[in-house]
Amino acid sequence: MAESAPKGTIEIAKDVFWVGVKHHNRRLFDALIPLPNGTSYNSYLVKGASKTALIDTVNPGFEGELIGKISQHTDPARIDYVIMNHAEPDHANAGQHILRMAPNAKLVTSKKGKEAALQYFDVDESRIMVVDDGAKIDLGGRTLEFIYAPWLHWPETMFTFLVEDGILFPCDFFGQHTAQGEFYADELGNDVTLDLAKVYFAEIMMPFRKPCLDGIEKVKKRNVKIIAPSHGVFYRDPSIIINAYSDWAGEKMRRKVLVAYVSMWGSTEKMVKVLAGALVEKKVDVRIFDIPNSEVGHIAKELVDSPVVVVGAPTVLGGAHPVAAYVAMLVKALRAPTKYAAVLTSHGWSGGAVKALQESLAGTKIEILGAVDAAGRPNEKDVQEILALAEKIAEKLPPE
Ligand code: FEO
Repeated sequence: MAESAPKGTIEIAKDVFWVGVKHHNRRLFDALIPLPNGTSYNSYLVKGASKTALIDTVNPGFEGELIGKISQHTDPARIDYVIMNHAEPDHANAGQHILRMAPNAKLVTSKKGKEAALQYFDVDESRIMVVDDGAKIDLGGRTLEFIYAPWLHWPETMFTFLVEDGILFPCDFFGQHTAQGEFYADELGNDVTLDLAKVYFAEIMMPFRKPCLDGIEKVKKRNVKIIAPSHGVFYRDPSIIINAYSDWAGEKMRRKVLVAYVSMWGSTEKMVKVLAGALVEKKVDVRIFDIPNSEVGHIAKELVDSPVVVVGAPTVLGGAHPVAAYVAMLVKALRAPTKYAAVLTSHGWSGGAVKALQESLAGTKIEILGAVDAAGRPNEKDVQEILALAEKIAEKLPPE
C-alpha cells in the first residue's frame, strides 16, 4: 500500500492534535464493505504538562505519515503512552512502530486488548499497561479516563475520555467512512454525516445493538463536548450522533419496507413493481434496490429501521439467484432488526427460489408473511396474490 502525500494536522483543543490519515482512494473495507468516499484513520496526540499520549494510530502502510505529523508537535521518541482503544489493525497496527521509536512508552489497553495486542502485533508483554474500566492516567493538568465498551465492535474495545476538555475518543463507535477535506460534522453537513454514519452503523455496529445502548449510557454520564471517533469527522454537537444511535440501536421502526430484488428477464421486476405500488398507496415508505446495481452499504443502511424485508429473485439452477441469496445472508449476518419478510420469485421450468430464500433466513426470528412464485410472467392470479401480500404487510407496520 502506497503512502499518501503528507498533509497537515489540526488542533481540536489546546495541545490536542489530530495526526491521522485521510485515505482517499481506499475502496473496500474488510474486503467486503464498499468505501465510495474513502475513509480516515484518526489518531490524536494529547500533550499534558508532564506526559504525552497518542490515542489510536493508523492503518498499515501509513506509519511514516503518522510519524511525520506527530513530529510537527513533539519528538515521537518522547511519547509516554500509546492508547489502544481497539486492536483492529486500521487503528492499532502503527502502535508497534511508535513503541520502537519511543523507548519509555507503554501500550495502554483493556485486559482483552492485551491479549489481542500480543496476538496481532510485535509487542513485548512488558511494554503493555492494562487499565481497568474507569481507570485514569494523569498527563499533568489533564486526565485520560478509560471506559470499557466491550463488543463495539470487538470484545476488547474501550473509549478514552479527556476529562478536562470533555473530548471523547470512542474509536469505531460513532464513526463514518469519509476522507473528505472537512474535519467536523457541521462542516461536512450534519445530514450528510448522519447518512454516512447510518451506513457505518449498519455494517459495523448493528449486530451489537445491546452493547451500543450500554455504550450510549456510559457516554451520557460524562460531560462530553466533542466526540472524536477514529473514522470520519468529529461532532462538536455530540447530541446529533448520540440521538441517532439511540434510535438505530433502539430499533425505532418506521412504516417502511425494504425491497431488494434481482431480475433476469423482467418477471420478478414486474412483481416487485406491483407490490411496491400497492404499498405506496398505503402510505408505506418503500425503498427498492435492484441488487446488482446497488451499493451493499445502502441496502444495509435501510435494514436499520425497516421492519419488513421483501426479497425478489428468479429461480436459477433450482435455487435463488445468488445475489438475492447474498442479501438474505446479509440480513442474517448483520443481525438486522427485521421482523417480517416476504418473497417474490419467478421461474421457468421448475421452482426452488422460494425454498432457498426461506432456508437462508432459517434460524432467525423473522416471520415469513408470504411468498408469490410466478411461472414465467406474472399472471392475474399472481397479481392478486401480490396485492393480498401487500395488505398483509401493511397491517404489520406501525400506523402512518
Ligand atoms: Fe476501524 Fe474495527 O476498526
